[in-house]
Amino acid sequence: MARVSIFISNSFCCCDWLISLTHLSSEFYNLKGFLNGEKVLKEIELSELKNIEGKSLLHLQCHFGLDTLSWARMGAKVTGVDLSPVAITQATKVKQKANLDAEFICSDVYAFGEKNTNQYGIVFTSYGALCWLPSLTKWAETVAKSLKPGGRFYIVEFHPIYDLLSGYGYFHRDEPDVEEEGTYTENDNGETATLATWCHPLSDVINALIRVGIQINHVNEFPFSPYNCFDGLEQREKDRFYMADMQHDTPLLYSILGTKST
Ligand SMILES: C[S@@+](CC[C@H](N)C(=O)[O-])C[C@H]1O[C@@H](n2cnc3c(N)ncnc32)[C@H](O)[C@@H]1O
Repeated sequence: MARVSIFISNSFCCCDWLISLTHLSSEFYNLKGFLNGEKVLKEIELSELKNIEGKSLLHLQCHFGLDTLSWARMGAKVTGVDLSPVAITQATKVKQKANLDAEFICSDVYAFGEKNTNQYGIVFTSYGALCWLPSLTKWAETVAKSLKPGGRFYIVEFHPIYDLLSGYGYFHRDEPDVEEEGTYTENDNGETATLATWCHPLSDVINALIRVGIQINHVNEFPFSPYNCFDGLEQREKDRFYMADMQHDTPLLYSILGTKST
């Protein structure tokens, strides 16, 4: 896939378009499976973000809430935040259908960070979130402000090396990459929209977190994606898609676990 990103127009979020047309019925997101009790969280976050039962968990850029609600199913007290009104409306409907407890807030991440006064035990964000954001400084401030002292931050995200291999830059620029794109789910129906995305090299993500007082517990890189969402991937194991036709394994994901200083 190309990066997942945001409409240039201020009046309409691209995810409104993506969700209403394709995402809800996609195998990629597996809403049907989720409602039948299947897990939609992936092996990496499940193995690296442990001990969530009874914890308050804030999910930034929660899309239509399947991952958020999966953490709720596992015993966390969850809050999901997303810019898209359609995503938040759908998340609320899924919550009701699945009979789970969760709070969903429709807000821009930065605006949420400015207004929010609650502090959570865990802040979580994942797959395809950061490329939507022009600045990691305000994002990291939101993360730090939303965490209790000693609280954990966890991200699993697509690796910016894939951007480089796909012809984007690696290092951050203030100006976004603007292009006409379709969506990334398997049921893409050919419709496109004008999207703007930003590169965030791994060092920028780590340094943004360090600057706001997050101690880094681990940074891991993975040569596979759980989603078959990029050109040129091949499945070698269950739910693991690798870059084919490369001499060596290529990093496709990274994860970071951090703790807010006490
Ligand atoms: C690719 S989705 C992330 C999906 C996520 N892995 C999940 O399913 O839980 C990216 C999400 O970021 C949201 N988003 C983009 N820019 C945002 C912003 N500035 N503030 C809050 N949410 C934003 C979009 O509406 C979209 O739902």
